[in-house]
Amino acid sequence: MCGIIGYTGNRKSVPILLEGLKTLEYRGYDSAGISVTDDQSVTTVKAKGRLSVLENKLNASEELTATCGIGHTRWATHGEPSDINSHPHSAEHLTLVHNGIIENYAEIGEMLRGVGYTFVSETDTERAAKLLDMFYAKSHDPLEAIFSACRVIRGSYAFGIMFNDRPEVIYSIRKDSPLIVAHESGNGSFIASDIPAILKYTRSYYRLEEGVVAQISKDGVVFYNSEMEPVSQTLEEVDWDVEQAQKGGYPHFMLKEIHEEPEALRKTLEPRIKDGLPHFGIEQLDGEFLAHFTGIHIVACGTAYHAGLIGKAIIEKLARVPVNVEIASEFRYRDPILRPNDLVILLSQSGETADTLAALRHAKAQGIYTLAIVNVIGSSVAREADSVLYTWAGPEIAVASTKAYSVQCSLLYLLALRMTLANRTLEEETVRRICDSMLTKIPSVIAETLKLNDQIYGYAKQIVNAEHVFYIGRDMDWALCTEGSLKLKEISYIHSEAYAAGELKHGTISLITDGIPVIALTTVSKVCEKTVSGIREVKSRGALVIAFAARELAEKYEIPHDELLIIPEIDELLMPFPAVTVLQLLAYHVSALKGLDVDKPRNLAKSVTVE
Ligand code: G6P
Repeated sequence: MCGIIGYTGNRKSVPILLEGLKTLEYRGYDSAGISVTDDQSVTTVKAKGRLSVLENKLNASEELTATCGIGHTRWATHGEPSDINSHPHSAEHLTLVHNGIIENYAEIGEMLRGVGYTFVSETDTERAAKLLDMFYAKSHDPLEAIFSACRVIRGSYAFGIMFNDRPEVIYSIRKDSPLIVAHESGNGSFIASDIPAILKYTRSYYRLEEGVVAQISKDGVVFYNSEMEPVSQTLEEVDWDVEQAQKGGYPHFMLKEIHEEPEALRKTLEPRIKDGLPHFGIEQLDGEFLAHFTGIHIVACGTAYHAGLIGKAIIEKLARVPVNVEIASEFRYRDPILRPNDLVILLSQSGETADTLAALRHAKAQGIYTLAIVNVIGSSVAREADSVLYTWAGPEIAVASTKAYSVQCSLLYLLALRMTLANRTLEEETVRRICDSMLTKIPSVIAETLKLNDQIYGYAKQIVNAEHVFYIGRDMDWALCTEGSLKLKEISYIHSEAYAAGELKHGTISLITDGIPVIALTTVSKVCEKTVSGIREVKSRGALVIAFAARELAEKYEIPHDELLIIPEIDELLMPFPAVTVLQLLAYHVSALKGLDVDKPRNLAKSVTVE
């Protein structure tokens, strides 16, 4: 969701800005633009569509040699994707880029019109630019103007700002939208929405604190608090490399990230299993405190929400603590009943999802203990929660989340197991056995599953032209189906839905006609027979049934099917791990077969930092 890059230094800024924007493409965008400045003037080039359109426009114009500039990929919120609505936006004294949403933009626009400002775009950002301009015109002091404007603005923002009369300096401030700042000596300084944009130059960066202004120039960076006094920020080091953020020989990031699941799971699980038992190194999660939680709310969006459904199933099954899984955008407004002994778990790959962050704040405001399970280190959700468990999946670039889902599930499993020790709902020996299987078997069973790629590709060919696909299963299988179905619809644009197999006859079965693909998942022994009845019902109405089953169940029950894939074996409780890999590969191949932009599906963004 909107990407920002800014550079000022000794080199030509245009190539650096374009390269930076390319690394931020994964965030999702529908237009892009850059502004560069030298002593004389500011030049802005913007274009609707992919970065290649902007690049062509830049190639066609006179070469820009300025060494200071800002760039932006826009994911439209206020006003359609168009050249005019693209960023940067300019006012008399400045040019800026923005990520976020200005909630009171209409009010601000009204006020500015009253003092003579006019607008060329429909964007909230242009209102912000002109608001800042109004303050700057009075004081000609960047800090004072920025802080004054931010006192008026309601909403979320990360800004990159260039003032016309201060060439070669870029200012930045943020609230609820991510932004990092970096400096490479001998080269220059950067601002960016995410680390991959600066990784080519430096591994050290500052995660800009909310409400602090960064002033970057070719010689270094200075930070100011709202009192306009210099303050220090913590310098952090990136612990992964460029290679990890590139495709490494795979045709798409999504396929690469599915193949990274065994390693990501190993990295996430190993440090959390000590002496054979789950151990988080967080007092509240390791000690008796854990036993005092009598209810859990798992709050998340998208794929993370689906991991939450797996979490509910496993925590309730093992630890016998009631779990409510909730979509973050609902949770934040529904005013859910939160009791003093409840635990709120926020699940998020990016840690920047606006609704998840708002849900976290809602829970904290009521004094409820919050635990974040997050992949991006130092992200807003991670920093604001009472405690955080990081998933060690490494950077996830494809918009469709895959490895992040698996590691989120794995930590929810460990949490469930840790709770069983605290609540004494399982024998220590049983917990030990499950932990051992998780550590030793999950990575290898996924590696086995990846070898079924060709078979899964064959199924993808069978459903590639379908208009509708249904996923059915029960219990954990149903939870997995919700994720399988989301994967397929988001990247292949095929309408797809997941149903609890028992619910079919209450409506969906009316949609089953000749040849409609139904993906049936059977890994849960307790309900397998029941799922088989559901499969029989759709099969007898002409559905093309592609069944994914545990070996033991396929041998015991006659699963009606057109195609049957045996999922590599692991303890039944851990079946979701290989099963989801199958579902992810299926969705991947359908999208790739259709020739779609697998990693950047239309209208979707990797990190949804606006409501
Ligand atoms: C977007 C992404 C999904 C992701 C969801 C939640 O919709 O496209 O892949 O699951 O946001 O993101 P989070 O970063 O909070 O896990």
